[in-house]
Amino acid sequence: MYDLVFRSARVVTPNRVILGDLGVTGERISAIGPNLGPGKEEVDATGKLLFPGFIDAHVHLGVPIRGTESVDGVTEGSRAAAFGGVTTMIDFTVQDKGESLLDSFHRRRARIEGASYVDIALHANFTRFNEENLAQIPEVLAAGAAGLKIFTAYREAGMQMEDRQILRIAKKVGEAGGLLLVHAENGDAADYLAERLAAEGRRDAAAHGESRPDLLEAEAIFRVATLARIADCPLYVVHLSSARGLETIRRLRADEWKIFAETCPQYLLLDRSRYEGENGHRFIASPPLREKIDGVRLLDAILGDEIDVVATDHCPFSSAQKQAGGGDFLATPNGIGGVETLLPLMFTRLLALGENGLAPKHNAGLLRLVRVLAENPARIFGLAPRKGALKEDADADLVLYDPAPSRTLTAAEMHGGSDWDPYEGLEVRGAVESVWLRGKRIVNGEILRGRPKDGIFLKTSR
Ligand code: URP
Ligand code: ZN
Ligand code: ZN
Repeated sequence: MYDLVFRSARVVTPNRVILGDLGVTGERISAIGPNLGPGKEEVDATGKLLFPGFIDAHVHLGVPIRGTESVDGVTEGSRAAAFGGVTTMIDFTVQDKGESLLDSFHRRRARIEGASYVDIALHANFTRFNEENLAQIPEVLAAGAAGLKIFTAYREAGMQMEDRQILRIAKKVGEAGGLLLVHAENGDAADYLAERLAAEGRRDAAAHGESRPDLLEAEAIFRVATLARIADCPLYVVHLSSARGLETIRRLRADEWKIFAETCPQYLLLDRSRYEGENGHRFIASPPLREKIDGVRLLDAILGDEIDVVATDHCPFSSAQKQAGGGDFLATPNGIGGVETLLPLMFTRLLALGENGLAPKHNAGLLRLVRVLAENPARIFGLAPRKGALKEDADADLVLYDPAPSRTLTAAEMHGGSDWDPYEGLEVRGAVESVWLRGKRIVNGEILRGRPKDGIFLKTSR
């Protein structure tokens, strides 16, 4: 007898969508197939989709930016994730001035333990270059860091790495079998343009976008990919935002560079017109929102298997936090939220291309969805085979999704800490009905059944 059986679901496995049952024993999936035996608990999933728990491979939980801290800490962010069908998040360490790489990893890990509704892994941010931190790279990867991330921007915050430093970091990461992540924007050019705009009296939100054009992304991707190749280190580009950046990755791949690419819903669905108007400053994030055509090109690249991962860069600030700088783009904390809306937005975008999510011919969209939101991040970041796919012996992280309803996204119905939402008013298809984490139901409709200590720290191994 199974502990739990889902009956007559459309089970979205990595290669096909199976109409049948899924059985759970303890914390694991124990069988997928037709007419499974009885379960102590049975869920009638007729007409519903059964997905693997989704993975948001890029979140910032309670991160300090410009004198304030993003409003979703571990507990708030993981609650929003649970309601959104995200059962694993990968957060980033924050390295204080003078703090070692390893200490920052252990400090962040301690902050996660006992505080999360969902499972959490960690990327290590490498933001303080010195010999001690360099020497600790193998140790931090052995401690379970999913990736090691560098920035080519944010000099004012002391986080920007120089080429000679990137080479040495990449060498260490490559030798240790790790993966280098990069926030790719030419920070010096962005600072130069921002100063010039400010000198002309431009402090508005649109100036944020103008100070960080797509050229800066393309340049930094090319440069860091070159350095990583010289150092023989695999590279993962986070939050790819532009067609120009994508073209650069295409050219590098054509020349046999191995590069992973991640984009985010904001670069697919929002564009720079959001910077206009009274609340334009709320949308300030880096890289900035682009032209509509950039979103079209990035979506094509997802469908064409050129983008490996869609993650959110979840980093919300309340309207008051966003407003504290008086609308000045140089005084506004950068970042927006998205973990709770990731699944409905991407389901709608990938399935709504003339499709309704129910008929068999639409399975290509479903398979693409689980590939970029579960299977690929699990594989790339060393969480597979435990996470990322519905198959025997995997963790029973499950999302029961009703594809039928249409609804309008609104901040009032969200479960994180922010009082506004960047996707307010957008129509989406389908709704999360219930969510299981390692065999335990953590969300049932509008009811939160999980507890903040249900989530565990996940040590990754690549
Ligand atoms: O503006 C953003 N994206 N804030 C979060 C930090 C980062 O650069 O990813
Ligand atoms: Zn970034
Ligand atoms: Zn980020």
